[in-house]
Amino acid sequence: MAIDQDKLGAFLGKAVGDLGATLSAALVVIGEKLGLYKAMAGAGPMTSAELAGKTGTAERYVREWLAAQAAGGYVTYDAPTGRYTLPEEQAFALAVDDSPAYLPGAFQLITSVLKDEPKLTEAFRTGKGVGWHEHDPGLFEGTERFFRPNYIANLTSSWIPALEGVEAKLKKGARVADIGCGHGASTILLAKAYPNSTFAGFDYHGPSIEKANQRAAAAGVADRAKFHVAKAKEFPGKDYDLVAFFDCLHDMGDPVGAAVHVRQSLAKDGTWMIVEPFAGDKVEDNLNPVGRLFYAASTMVCTGASLSQEVGLALGAQAGEARLREVVTGGGFTRFRRATQTPFNLVLEARP
Ligand SMILES: C[S@@+](CC[C@H](N)C(=O)[O-])C[C@H]1O[C@@H](n2cnc3c(N)ncnc32)[C@H](O)[C@@H]1O
Repeated sequence: MAIDQDKLGAFLGKAVGDLGATLSAALVVIGEKLGLYKAMAGAGPMTSAELAGKTGTAERYVREWLAAQAAGGYVTYDAPTGRYTLPEEQAFALAVDDSPAYLPGAFQLITSVLKDEPKLTEAFRTGKGVGWHEHDPGLFEGTERFFRPNYIANLTSSWIPALEGVEAKLKKGARVADIGCGHGASTILLAKAYPNSTFAGFDYHGPSIEKANQRAAAAGVADRAKFHVAKAKEFPGKDYDLVAFFDCLHDMGDPVGAAVHVRQSLAKDGTWMIVEPFAGDKVEDNLNPVGRLFYAASTMVCTGASLSQEVGLALGAQAGEARLREVVTGGGFTRFRRATQTPFNLVLEARP
């Protein structure tokens, strides 16, 4: 083998960064669960003993955790005083639950998916699916908490206004179905923003629907946001003004079948909003940090989820607009366009 030492060194350097990041995912989960970030937020420089005292945790572990956080750039370290500080930007992303940049949910999702590696390794051998419901339960809450900040940041301020005529209908009073709703984060945000409208959330995963109903009750919108177990091809109701799919069309085995059913369930001038992970149409368009994250999630979760269902089309989380257009028009929709986008999402609008 003709090894180029510089290239090998560069690759190993990159991999060391990945190794540290992978282990540090657990440190973020620990920091959130024990309130370490919250205790540091706005508190100024602290020693490990002060942080441990404030959070009722063991100083020796906290000292090691702080050093790892400092090495990763999550906190800063002042050597002369031996004190650590959580900078304001990091506090915004790590200690403020409703911040649009809140990160710990994503780390919860990722650490839960790591536990499912043996199931996925076996699926690679057999080609069989791994259903959404077969994953570690951390995935269900992690997904909710990963996506919610993004919905807080974008849903009612830019995604809904980007759809033709939908915001006005929602303000006046519309009927909305949110399919593949998981814990109902999107449904509940919409219900809070548009008090004249009524919302039905559907998902095939029973435990998620139970959680969604609890979340709606806690948010005070249970009278207008109700959740039921149903598959995307079978959800009940007609004449919806808006049917929404948040990050779930590509998880479905038969997305074309789902499109057919959505078309039959919409009012004549209704709208189908499809939010999908941002992607270009070709693999080479997606070879970047966001694409890496989504291809990895797709390998571990989305592809197997689709393969576990009928048809098993397995679009993957990086299908791209052109492929999604084929699915949507294959379901009988005549109009399809990209309404807007973020670095993480494509927001697509389909009309009958
Ligand atoms: C990535 S999660 C997104 C959840 C939620 N929409 C959100 O944004 O937080 C995908 C969801 O699609 C659901 N799902 C997958 N296939 C489905 C199907 N055929 N019918 C209904 N729901 C489905 C899963 O149970 C899961 O809750």
